[in-house]
Amino acid sequence: MKKIISVVGARPNFMKVSPIHKVIQKLNTQNSSLITNKICHTGQHYDEKMSRIFFDELELPQPDYYLGVGSGSHAEQTARIMIEFEKVLLYEKPDLIIVVGDVNSTIACTLTAVKLYIKVAHIEAGLRSFDRKMPEEINRILTDSISDYLFVTERSGIENLKREGISKDKIFFTGNIMIDSLLYYYPKVEKSNILKSYNLLPQNGDPKPIPYILVTLHRPGNVDSETNLHNIAGLLNSLGEKTKIIFPVHPRTKKNLINFNLLKILNPNIIFTEPLGYVDFIALIKNCRLVLTDSGGIQEETTFLGIPCVTLRTTTERPVTVELGTNYLVGDDTNAARKVCLDILDNKFKKGQIPELWDGKSAERIVSILLNMINN
Ligand code: UD1
Repeated sequence: MKKIISVVGARPNFMKVSPIHKVIQKLNTQNSSLITNKICHTGQHYDEKMSRIFFDELELPQPDYYLGVGSGSHAEQTARIMIEFEKVLLYEKPDLIIVVGDVNSTIACTLTAVKLYIKVAHIEAGLRSFDRKMPEEINRILTDSISDYLFVTERSGIENLKREGISKDKIFFTGNIMIDSLLYYYPKVEKSNILKSYNLLPQNGDPKPIPYILVTLHRPGNVDSETNLHNIAGLLNSLGEKTKIIFPVHPRTKKNLINFNLLKILNPNIIFTEPLGYVDFIALIKNCRLVLTDSGGIQEETTFLGIPCVTLRTTTERPVTVELGTNYLVGDDTNAARKVCLDILDNKFKKGQIPELWDGKSAERIVSILLNMINN
């Protein structure tokens, strides 16, 4: 029996590990002694709305290990994860660990495992923004350089890894695992009551919901700087004059909106909510006129669903969403962002296509490759 430990830490990790866990469970019901997958939650995200709700919705079992590391500086958080995860690895002695994405938990657990000669598989490898001021970019480069198996979501990832001198034998183009989750939970998304709870249901025989923009913001570059957050508040106010805005607020952003006294100047057409669960959030994406965001994963989910996405960043590590998908990279120029948003509200936007292998079968491909690797 081979043993795997899958690591989750922050909100965007849960929907990437869930499909892997399901495929392994299914294999085990067919052949009971093949492989076990234990889940280790570092506790990087710990609020109910940033963490537990996802376990419940995504049908993930309670984690086998909860490291409870919480917030702190990057060094503190990374170090605490390493110290606690090392204990788990020494006790469990797994054949392999799986890490996903680009958060501090990803690099911390990778570094801990490779020093104990434990193999590491990185899902969502090879993405590069080429902006080393983003902590995620450092996490991506370092994780990829020391992992054993690199699973790539889009072709740019293959090129980036090769350019960094990584052997092609380690690179596998298996598609986008987030789309596995999106497709699997889609029936639940269609039953979500979130539109009703914000009074957005279609009215007077109109087939479409009441128009609204969905906003998410949490990048330090946007929300930790008073000037930048002030400019973004101005953008939201001006868009709020045209249409409703639904804004689920990340804890980091909430703290800064309060500290910079911005909450009280915001247009009443902007509806603030706590961070939402996966199913309700996807339902809000699916029905909105456009998403305004600085997230990574949302650029992919909007591309898959064919919803226009305006990304308030100067770079993206997911270029296929701009080249093929529905994403517009507008940088930090809020005037440019406003213009693109107004065009979209005026129905002028690209329709986009679904990228290669974003088909709901990534986890099957990944697990089948991993089984081959660890059994040989
Ligand atoms: C992290 C990831 C980022 C990912 C994002 C998704 C890194 C370097 N960054 O950023 O890539 O896109 O998660 O949300 O790993 N906080 C709470 N409750 C929580 C979690 C955080 O209140 O459950 C607050 C804390 O004050 C903390 C701050 O939010 O200091 C930032 O949390 P942290 O996990 O350090 O980074 P994120 O900004 O969430």
